Amino acid sequence: MSIKIGIIGAGGMTNYHIPGFIAGGAEVVAIADVNQVAAQRVADKFNIPAVYDSVAKMIKSAKLDAVSVVTPNKFHKPLALQALAAGLHVFCEKPPALTAAEIRAMAAAAKKAKKTLMFNFNNRARPEAYAMRSYLEAGAAGRINSAQALWIRRTGIPGFGGWFTTKALSGGGPVIDLLHMIDLALYFMDYPDPEWVLAQTFNDFIADKGFKGPWGIPDVANGVNDVEASAHGFVRFKSGQVLFLRNAWAEMNKREEVSVTFQGQKAGGCVKRLFGRDGLDETSIDTCELYTQENGCSVNRDIVTAADPAMGRVRSAQNFALALAGKEKPLNTPGQAVKLMQIIDALYASAKSGKPIKVK
Ligand SMILES: NC(=O)c1ccc[n+]([C@@H]2O[C@H](COP(=O)([O-])OP(=O)(O)OC[C@H]3O[C@@H](n4cnc5c(N)ncnc54)[C@H](O)[C@@H]3O)[C@@H](O)[C@H]2O)c1
Repeated sequence: MSIKIGIIGAGGMTNYHIPGFIAGGAEVVAIADVNQVAAQRVADKFNIPAVYDSVAKMIKSAKLDAVSVVTPNKFHKPLALQALAAGLHVFCEKPPALTAAEIRAMAAAAKKAKKTLMFNFNNRARPEAYAMRSYLEAGAAGRINSAQALWIRRTGIPGFGGWFTTKALSGGGPVIDLLHMIDLALYFMDYPDPEWVLAQTFNDFIADKGFKGPWGIPDVANGVNDVEASAHGFVRFKSGQVLFLRNAWAEMNKREEVSVTFQGQKAGGCVKRLFGRDGLDETSIDTCELYTQENGCSVNRDIVTAADPAMGRVRSAQNFALALAGKEKPLNTPGQAVKLMQIIDALYASAKSGKPIKVK
């Protein structure tokens, strides 16, 4: 019997979730969205047999094993709790929640329900990340002492006045929206426990339409733009490892860079995408490299992987379906999501107070 999944929220990410679940052997049997037109459009595109205007109705009638939550961030926690309470597994879009307190509640509910709770940290499912992680697990780099995580755009604000730029709905700007490289760096470092965080955010361009990106949602007239446009931060872990990070939707950067670079005791390395003139085009550059000292020489090892323009978004959803079927290990855990959100809470608290924050 295949696993039956219902989709909550007919946003753009359904274009990746649905093919991923199917590739993992699951069936997508229902979709619910408060916007019926949006739900019907996705249902027609992917031949989903049942469309609901309410999540409660879908959970009651559709005979599901799992749901995927693809809504604005504010609804991740209540919808995940609703599904877990009904005995369903949950695949939730990133960020896991708005705060560490919220994700703690979600992790506790999953434990109580004995159900799988996973998040779409899709960059872990990129071919480069799979390859690098296998080198790290084989001990190629030794302990990673330090890492730098960057997702920096030049003009990439995803709409003005909509949910992305409204802190009460999104939880924050690029720190929380582009948290993928922070997660990937932590994954490479074996998710150490954070101890101290020092950060500063900037909001110079957050209302400047010259910095709008080519993706996101339409502008909302008289909407709210109360999130940061960029952030710079430093995390020290209890282990003595350190992480530097930069996230930006709008900053005077040369080009969009998405990267994790690290320095280990045996080797350094880098997984990087430099986007091109027009997003992902022929001028984009992908890097997956290890840096070692061998026989008295500095050696750069170029790890060649398959191209994945979807940046792991399909493979990540496939992993959820395969994990439920017991055929693959889950790519992430609720405990890791708690640590990630603790860091994000502390980044915002440090930026607000101007002081280093001890992570609790
Ligand atoms: N992993 C990635 O690469 C990636 C990329 C983009 C967006 N996302 C995440 O995906 C999520 C959705 O983003 P999006 O850009 O698709 O948003 P969107 O605004 O395009 O779509 C969200 C949909 O959810 C519906 N919705 C809102 N509240 C609902 C509720 N309570 N019940 C049912 N439906 C509801 C809306 O009507 C809308 O159709 C966000 O959490 C975002 O951070 C992830």
